[in-house]
Amino acid sequence: MRTTRVARIDEDLPVMGQGTWHMGELPERRTQEADALRLGVELGMTLIDTAEYYAAGRAELVVSDALRDIRPQVFLVDKIFPHHPTLESTRRAARAALRRTGAGYFDLLLIHWPTPLFRVHLMALSMIYAEGVARYIGVSNFDETWLARAAPGLPSDTPVAANQLPYSLADRRLDQGFLDELRARGILVLAYSPLGRGSLLRGRRLAVLSGVGREVGATPSQVALAWAVRHPGVVAIPKAVAPAHVRENAAAGDLVLTPAQLARLDEAFPPGGRPYQPDLPSWHAVFRWAYQWEERRMRHNLPVR
Ligand SMILES: NC(=O)c1ccc[n+]([C@@H]2O[C@H](COP(=O)([O-])OP(=O)(O)OC[C@H]3O[C@@H](n4cnc5c(N)ncnc54)[C@H](OP(=O)(O)O)[C@@H]3O)[C@@H](O)[C@H]2O)c1
Repeated sequence: MRTTRVARIDEDLPVMGQGTWHMGELPERRTQEADALRLGVELGMTLIDTAEYYAAGRAELVVSDALRDIRPQVFLVDKIFPHHPTLESTRRAARAALRRTGAGYFDLLLIHWPTPLFRVHLMALSMIYAEGVARYIGVSNFDETWLARAAPGLPSDTPVAANQLPYSLADRRLDQGFLDELRARGILVLAYSPLGRGSLLRGRRLAVLSGVGREVGATPSQVALAWAVRHPGVVAIPKAVAPAHVRENAAAGDLVLTPAQLARLDEAFPPGGRPYQPDLPSWHAVFRWAYQWEERRMRHNLPVR
């Protein structure tokens, strides 16, 4: 597994990590999901990403199962949802998230989305950092404007160390300059939905990825993942439960595409389009409603959509 390092997180990280969105939704799948994460760690995908929001805390319970005797090997990333209205409720939420993971400390703790209360959320994170409960802190879904506002909200000794953002051949909005800016500032980019939630693996897109894959002896998913981490300072966090997917994703962490292959992918998936902006409205009320809905969905076991 290749590794990468950024100025604001001074340690080697695997270029391929593991996501957990939609894990923990069905009790009967919990063991299978935890086993998938453990297999991934064994294969070198030692960075695990989870969130308070995912299955209203139940994904963190899956992570807790996965971590049981391998905690020191894992770089754990968790995200606090931005529906908490005060400093104290945000800190309480982080403590509850930590209890669910059973991890003892967070390696990296992020605020999941920007809202008008982002200063309160970032201040809570910086207090958690100062207490030694999070080794690093950062943000998710913050575009250039939100990130510029975030910096003055934080004490100078707790810089934003990472930004988790959508990045794949299906979504190249970061290629409008923001990715380069983050890398130049030494901020880790955690590329989420690196397989475009499966959308890259259908139709014409699949045909292009298969073509490149045949040349390098790799699957279409591996080509897509290798593309996402072609620059230093980027870690992709594909989510996989199927053991075959986990193995494929881990092996993609060793794959390096040639300039000619990258040029073909550029041609098939051109970087144009508008620069990245968060997809969700940044109103605090929307996130409060979203979290209540997620809790209700879990309580009554309702389908996702
Ligand atoms: N910060 C945010 O707002 C945010 C938003 C979205 C996602 N994320 C994070 O990013 C993670 C990844 O994103 P995502 O879950 O949206 O999408 P994704 O990783 O792009 O796609 C996940 C889907 O791809 C399948 N898959 C995985 N590996 C595969 C392979 N090698 N071949 C074929 N199919 C494969 C998975 O199937 P199986 O599970 O059946 O194996 C799953 O259905 C999330 O889990 C979450 O941790 C963060």
